[in-house]
Amino acid sequence: MNIEGRTVLITGANRGIGAALTVDALDQGAAQVFALVRDRNNMSWCTDKRVTALQADIRDFDEVQAASKDVPQLDVIINNAGILRNQPIVGGSDAALNARDEIEVNYLGTLNVVNAFWKTLTKEALDGERKKIVNVMSTLAKVTYPFCGTYCASKYAVLALTRGLRAQLAPLGVDIVEAYPGLTDTDMTQGLDHLPKVSASDVATAIIGALINDLQEVYIGADSEEMRDALAKDPEAAQTEADQYMPEPLV
Ligand SMILES: NC(=O)c1ccc[n+]([C@@H]2O[C@H](COP(=O)([O-])OP(=O)(O)OC[C@H]3O[C@@H](n4cnc5c(N)ncnc54)[C@H](OP(=O)(O)O)[C@@H]3O)[C@@H](O)[C@H]2O)c1
Repeated sequence: MNIEGRTVLITGANRGIGAALTVDALDQGAAQVFALVRDRNNMSWCTDKRVTALQADIRDFDEVQAASKDVPQLDVIINNAGILRNQPIVGGSDAALNARDEIEVNYLGTLNVVNAFWKTLTKEALDGERKKIVNVMSTLAKVTYPFCGTYCASKYAVLALTRGLRAQLAPLGVDIVEAYPGLTDTDMTQGLDHLPKVSASDVATAIIGALINDLQEVYIGADSEEMRDALAKDPEAAQTEADQYMPEPLV
C-alpha cells in the first residue's frame, strides 16, 4: 500500500507510539490523519493541517461511534491505544479491577473502534486497492509473563479478535496487520530503565513500513524478534523462559 494520499485513523495518537505513528504517517505523505484521542487538547503538539483530532474514550462505543460521523472516508485504521497495569494474576492489588481496565481498553476498545469504523473503511475497498487495519499487540499476546499476567490476557484476546476479524473482513477488501513491538521507550515502560528499549519512532517506522510493504505481521526490536524465533522453534520452551519474569514472591 502506498501511504501517500491516504487517510489514516490512529488511536492514542497523542503520545508514545501513537504520536510517533502520526509523525511517520505524515512523513510518508498521508493526506489526512484522524487522531482519535481521549482529550483533543493533547494533540496541540501537532500543528500539521492534515491532522484532525477526534475525541473519544475507546471504552465507550457511543463516543467512538459519534466520532466516526466526522470521518467520511478511510484507508487505514491503526488500533494503538492501550494500557498496562503491571499486575500479576494473584498477589497484586485489586486484580479484577486492573484486569477489567486492561480488557476494556486493549480488547473492548479495539472491538469498539473496528465496529464503529468498518463500514467507512470498507465503503470503497472493493473498487480499488485493499484497505488495512493494524492491531498493535505485543509478543505478550503469545506468551504470558507472570509479572503482568492480566495485561497478557488482554493482548491474547486482541490476537484472537484479530484472527476472526481477518476472516470476516478479507472478503470486503481489508487486510489486517499484526504489530508486535518489543519493549519501547514510552510512558508505559517508565521504571523499566534497566532493560534495553526500542524508540517509539523506530516502532512507528517499522509499522508504517509493514503497511507499505503489505506485511501481515511485524516484530520490532531484538526482544520481539527473539521471541518470534523462540515461539517458532519451541512454544513451550518460550513460555518456560517467560515464566521466570515473576512479580514479588508470594511466599
Ligand atoms: N511501550 C511498550 O513497551 C509496548 C510494547 C508492546 C506493545 N505496546 C503497545 O503499544 C500501544 C501503545 O503503547 P505506548 O507505549 O505508546 O503507551 P503510552 O505511551 O502509555 O500511550 C498510550 C496511549 O493510549 C491512549 N489510551 C489509553 N486509554 C485510552 C482510552 N480509554 N481511550 C482512548 N485512548 C486511550 C493514551 O491516551 P491518554 O494520553 O489519554 O492516556 C495514550 O495515547 C499499546 O497498545 C501497548 O500495549 C507497547
